[in-house]
Amino acid sequence: MLIASGRVTVNGKVVTELGTKVDPERDHVKVDGKHLENAQPFVYLILNKPKNVMSTLDDPGGRPTVKNFLHGVSVRVFPVGRLDFDSEGLMLLTNNGDLTQALLHPRYHVPKTYLIKVKSVLTDAEIAQLEKGIKLEDGMTSPATVKKVRKAEANSWVEITIHEGRKHQVKRMLEAVGHPVIKLTRVKMGPLTLGDLGSGEFRFLTDREANALRDIVEQRRTLEKEGKDPGVRPPKPPRRPGWAKPSKTKRHSTKKARPVA
Ligand code: URA
Repeated sequence: MLIASGRVTVNGKVVTELGTKVDPERDHVKVDGKHLENAQPFVYLILNKPKNVMSTLDDPGGRPTVKNFLHGVSVRVFPVGRLDFDSEGLMLLTNNGDLTQALLHPRYHVPKTYLIKVKSVLTDAEIAQLEKGIKLEDGMTSPATVKKVRKAEANSWVEITIHEGRKHQVKRMLEAVGHPVIKLTRVKMGPLTLGDLGSGEFRFLTDREANALRDIVEQRRTLEKEGKDPGVRPPKPPRRPGWAKPSKTKRHSTKKARPVA
């Protein structure tokens, strides 16, 4: 009724179409000239999940969960995706359900990068196999990017970027080429990097990071509206042989940490 009677404006323009969509974080919605306040601000944070912690909020088995590490977070936030119990690293948590859905698009998750300690050293042929796609019991994996990072005596470190989110995917991929995973840490997810966030610590996203996530969602919505497949991946960069540096880590001041309104 408010809309039909012309009392609602979006970004200064009167809207009369019922079902008009707005982005509550970006659009200015007014009723009778007064700003409509968001009932609850969106909150985005990243946690460095320690090993032997469930990536869910509750565990019927009584094991520790990510909730145990969110001291002082009064808003109920939900994990975006999973990490295995024995995996560690970057977990995004938010109360923005639309964003969660868009980031976990079944055909194209945002790229996720893992730093992995594996048994022995991957050969170039094995890396090529992983990059091309490998047959697992639930089908072929989509192309991945693999960087050799470091070699120790009996093990080595690699960085793998994938665009899917199947169960135990990275472990299964490496197992399939004969290199069981010893340690797995997620260091990047879309535009977010773990940086030097300590194990068990969390920080709120900066405005720039939260905007970068929202841009991804908007791009996908636009593609979907235009009937284009949001599952199309960007072209792969040319491969550089040899050992590479691990992904750059960025220092984020925790002092500035605050919820994003
Ligand atoms: N792949 C895995 O195998 N485990 C994880 O926790 C994440 C990705």
